[in-house]
Amino acid sequence: MTERTFSIIKPDATRRNLTGKVNAVIEDAGLRIVAQRRIRMTEDQAKKFYEVHAARPFYGELVEFMTSAPVVVQVLEGENAVARYREVMGATNPADAAEGTIRKLYAESVGENSVHGSDSAENAAIEIAQFFTDDQIVG
Ligand code: CMP
Repeated sequence: MTERTFSIIKPDATRRNLTGKVNAVIEDAGLRIVAQRRIRMTEDQAKKFYEVHAARPFYGELVEFMTSAPVVVQVLEGENAVARYREVMGATNPADAAEGTIRKLYAESVGENSVHGSDSAENAAIEIAQFFTDDQIVG
């Protein structure tokens, strides 16, 4: 089943000029980048995006980090894209990430872990709509 997922290349990766390297891993995994934009996330956007984590102790730090430098927001398309991208990203904590995954290759810590990917098709649709209109996604 062809589906879409939402991806963010996070500030730790854009700071180290790793956008192209991350995209190469994504494309080598068979996912297509069907929308992409480099933005500076506002505090309001970051707070809303991570609303589900609002009660967590790291919420403030997370919002601060996500607004600290540019990010690249993306829509990825492919066969089982949500699960496929989670495989390609690797575990949230890079110490637990499998060889060849983006987080194993590039992430610095559990907080500064280079990429975000949606955890379900339902959340993917919600997250995509926060940053893209339908006409900006060209499959
Ligand atoms: P992400 O997939 O973007 O969704 C929630 C984020 O919270 C997660 O990636 C991590 O970057 C971040 N996160 C999870 N656990 C911690 C933690 N213990 N300390 C700081 N950030 C965390």
